[in-house]
Amino acid sequence: DWTMEAYKDIAIEKIREQVGDKQVICALSGGVDSSVAAALLHEAVGDQLTCVFVDHGLLRLNEADEVVAMFRDHMNLKVIHADEVDLFLGELEGQSDPETKRKIIGRLFIDVFQKYANEIEGAEFLAQGTLYPDVIESVSFSGGPSVTIKSHHNVGGLPEKMGLKLVEPLRELFKDEVRALGHELGLPSSFIGRHPFPGPGLAIRCPGEITREKLEILRKADAVYIDQIRRHGLYDEIWQAFVAILPVRTVGVMGDGRTYDFACALRAVTSVDGMTADYYPFSHEFLGETATRIINEVPGINRVTYDITSKPPGTIEWE
Ligand code: XMP
Repeated sequence: DWTMEAYKDIAIEKIREQVGDKQVICALSGGVDSSVAAALLHEAVGDQLTCVFVDHGLLRLNEADEVVAMFRDHMNLKVIHADEVDLFLGELEGQSDPETKRKIIGRLFIDVFQKYANEIEGAEFLAQGTLYPDVIESVSFSGGPSVTIKSHHNVGGLPEKMGLKLVEPLRELFKDEVRALGHELGLPSSFIGRHPFPGPGLAIRCPGEITREKLEILRKADAVYIDQIRRHGLYDEIWQAFVAILPVRTVGVMGDGRTYDFACALRAVTSVDGMTADYYPFSHEFLGETATRIINEVPGINRVTYDITSKPPGTIEWE
């Protein structure tokens, strides 16, 4: 797409003008927006960019390694892999209220990001993957620019506190344009087409208390479910698909024995912008096959349900 190619060159020029020879830091989440922002910044200012990838222990199976490998090894970006799993899971221990969980994660994320950013010599700019719809949303909700309510990965308020200036090269773009730009920058299409993943990660797919055991089970079940969706060629038809592990054990039978394991819920929705959503009408064959695979392949789960709530009245996530 030559239009996006031209846009890319202009955006790169603008970044160079703004940043000069100063250092830039960026929180890399592995999501499409921050990934495209990082790739664009890298093309514009090369090694003046350092990305911080915060591993809060609430990521999907192999997520941290895959994201870090792609940006560090494949695309040659400077990436700090902040392994803060013990910190996050420690502070979340015993917490079951959804808003409390979100607040803890948001606060720790900012603390951790700040700690790593402070170690980067001479950083003057903070890059964010803010999109045009985020700008509109934040203006209508808070009256101020550049403070997004969407995600703690858009670290609102932090730039001022740290004395950093913002670089937001995607501010004029919609999601589909960001994807086109990502393509132009050489990000693999499997990466660009990924479903959105929330900042608090698996925490909001583990209603109630989070334990390492539940997270481990959830990761495995989610990987099987996504594999099923990909095998059936349905991934790109779906806005978001994931497993939630329920805070309840139920009785089952396996062989001659009784089991007493966790139940889980599969979620899959179609949506245009995440504001409203319909549940995805999987065939009964698909659902049956997926349930069988999860129960056979994931120790700790003995019951699978499918969530057929649309939004509204439900939300996409379980918390
Ligand atoms: P809900 O569950 O509110 O989700 O219908 C709508 C979209 O927003 C994502 N989501 C979040 N993203 N931080 C995020 O970065 C959050 O706290 C959060 N909560 C929900 C959700 O994955 C869906 O795409």
